[in-house]
Amino acid sequence: MDTKTLVIGAGGQIGKELVQELCKIYGNDKIVASDIRKDEGVKCDFETLDVLDTKRLVEIIKKHNVKEVYHLAALLSATAEQFPEKGWKLNMEGLLSVLELMKDKVIDKMFWPSSIAVFGPNTPKQNTPQYTIMEPSTVYGISKQAGERWCEYYNKRYGVDVRSIRYPGLIGWQSAPGGGTTDYAVHIFHEARKQKKYECFLSEDTTLPMMYMSDALRATIGLMQVPSDKVKIRSSYNLAGMSFSPKDIAAEIKKHIPEFTITYKPDYRQPIADSWPQSIDDSFAREHWGWKHQYDLAAMTKDMLDHIK
Ligand code: SER
Repeated sequence: MDTKTLVIGAGGQIGKELVQELCKIYGNDKIVASDIRKDEGVKCDFETLDVLDTKRLVEIIKKHNVKEVYHLAALLSATAEQFPEKGWKLNMEGLLSVLELMKDKVIDKMFWPSSIAVFGPNTPKQNTPQYTIMEPSTVYGISKQAGERWCEYYNKRYGVDVRSIRYPGLIGWQSAPGGGTTDYAVHIFHEARKQKKYECFLSEDTTLPMMYMSDALRATIGLMQVPSDKVKIRSSYNLAGMSFSPKDIAAEIKKHIPEFTITYKPDYRQPIADSWPQSIDDSFAREHWGWKHQYDLAAMTKDMLDHIK
C-alpha cells in the first residue's frame, strides 16, 4: 500500500491552501485532509479529527498508511488569549501526541508551524536573530516556544525528523484567517474591494513581519522536501518575506483603489502586536536549505486585488 501524507487542521487558513498545493504536486490519492469540521470542498480523502483524540488519530494513520504529517491544528494568538487553557491544551497536547507517534516510528516526518509569537517584548525588534532573547508574553507564544523545545528534544533524543518554520503573519486570498493578530492584513483587502474602507484593529505604525501565502507554501513544502541533513535547526527556522504597518499597506492599496480610506481603532490585539518583532533575520533558512522569498508588499497587493473581485 502506498504511503500518504496527512494534513491535520486542513480547514484552517494555511491548511486549505496547503492541501490544494500538496494535491497538485503529489496527486489527490496521496493526500489525506483532516479537521475537526468536515470540509466538503477537498478533492482528496477527508477524515474528521479532533487532534486531542489520539485513538482516532492512530486509526486514520493506520487506515491510510500515513508516513508524513503536516500538523497545523492550533488556536492562534488572539483566540488563545480569550481561551488560555484551551489554547495551551490544544497547541501542546496535539503536538506531543504526534511526536510520540514519531518516536514509536509510526510516522517518519512531520511539519509543525511555529511563529514570530515565540519572541517577546525583550527581543530585539529589528532583524530579530534566530538565537536571541525569547520571552513570549502570550499563551500562543508560550505554547509555540515550548513546542519548539519539544521538537528539538525529540529530534536530539529520539532522532525524529521534525521540521518547523516560525511563520510571520500570512496573507492569502483563498482562505480566511482565524483568530490571529495579523488577520487585519487579509481583511483589509476584502473590505477595500467591498466597502472601499477599513477600520483597523491595530494602530497605523504597527510594523510586523508578514509573508504572502504562496511564499509560505513554497517554504513549507520546500523544507519538507530537502534531505534531512540540510535541516540543521530542529526547533524552528526564522523566515522572512516583508515587513509593513497598516499605514504602509493602506498606501499600497490606494495605488489601486484611490478612494480607499482607513481608520484605526486598536483593541486587545494591539499589545500582542507590540510584543512581536518588526523584521526577521532568516539567514539560516537561506543558507541551510536555500530559502528565498518572492513577494514584496507591492507584488502581494497587486496579486491579492487581482484575485479578490
Ligand atoms: N499570524 C499569527 C497570529 O497572528 C502569528 O503566528 O496569531
